[in-house]
Amino acid sequence: MTFSNNTKICKIDDNSLKLSKNLIENEELVAFPTETVYGLGGLATSDKAVKRIYEAKGRPSDNPLIVHVHSNYDINKLVYIDYDYVYELQKAFLPGPLTMVYRSKGMVSNLVSCGLNTLAVRVPSHKGAQEFLKYLNLPIAAPSANVSKHTSPVTAEHVYTDLNGKIDLILDGGKCSGGIESTVLDVTTETPIILRSGLITYDMIKNVVGKCAYGDSKPTDKVKSPGVKYRHYCPKCETALFKRSDFLSAQNLYNEYIKNGKKPYFMCDDEILKQLKGDNVLRLGGSGEEIASNLYFRLLQGEKIADLIIAFEVCTGTDLDVGIMNRLVKACGNNYYK
Ligand code: TXA
Ligand code: MG
Repeated sequence: MTFSNNTKICKIDDNSLKLSKNLIENEELVAFPTETVYGLGGLATSDKAVKRIYEAKGRPSDNPLIVHVHSNYDINKLVYIDYDYVYELQKAFLPGPLTMVYRSKGMVSNLVSCGLNTLAVRVPSHKGAQEFLKYLNLPIAAPSANVSKHTSPVTAEHVYTDLNGKIDLILDGGKCSGGIESTVLDVTTETPIILRSGLITYDMIKNVVGKCAYGDSKPTDKVKSPGVKYRHYCPKCETALFKRSDFLSAQNLYNEYIKNGKKPYFMCDDEILKQLKGDNVLRLGGSGEEIASNLYFRLLQGEKIADLIIAFEVCTGTDLDVGIMNRLVKACGNNYYK
């Protein structure tokens, strides 16, 4: 599929992989699918390519990038592994949505980690991502393929909406199944520290390592993972987030918008959905996995059709809620509606 502007969307095949290799080797950018969200890839060893990534996204230059490699890539070329528990984590979860932050060997551009002496490395499990990374056999720096602050893309069309005209090629691997970004885990300390919650949860890590901690990520703190301090994931329409117990206030807000001739949409899980009667709804689903997988998709659908998304706190009772709520709260401006 090709659109009128100069950004191409291509299915992943020999031709598009060849084209990707040309672009990447020429220090240009290629967006590609992963099992979490789409990534905006550039050659990690090239200052020029990494600069282009920051420019295309409008990303603050103190928010480091993750390097992506295929599953047979020897990451010892890039980083030091300081603790044996890392091998256990690799065995349990890779390839998959776990990014580990290691001590860097300084083999990639300094701009990737914004001068930090660490490097975040991820081995995505998505078949198309693996094909792309294996074909290149190079370390690829890639943030989520959205304009900075906007909701992360989970389809090739989402990437196109944000980056059309700014990059040459989007590899189309369908809708991302995971739906929220990878867990970022600091493995440079004796106890691994979660810097960003995601699909590999605290309990899953603790079950393997025997210990795990959450990093401090209050917005005002000097954080170890700079990306967590920024405004993030916001759709382009208004949003209002409610506690589950504030159902009536949410409904009042909904009715007020309707009365004023506006289009509000509820965004909620199946428990809340049962209490709604024929209203406009963006359905997230029942289980934590389903909700994570639909979250950005629904936010991006909502921004096209709604004046206001009225979101409800998600509570499935599993620790996947931590990652989901981390994104949802930020998408709704960091606050519950008052
Ligand atoms: O699922 C994902 O991780 C997606 C796909 C494309 O792989 N990528 C992604 O990248 O979410 P990005 O750039 O949107 O988020 C990277 C996160 C940020 O929170 C950043 O601060 C953190 O990883 N990070 C990267 N390098 C780091 C480092 N050396 N130390 C601490 N945090 C780091
Ligand atoms: Mg991002």
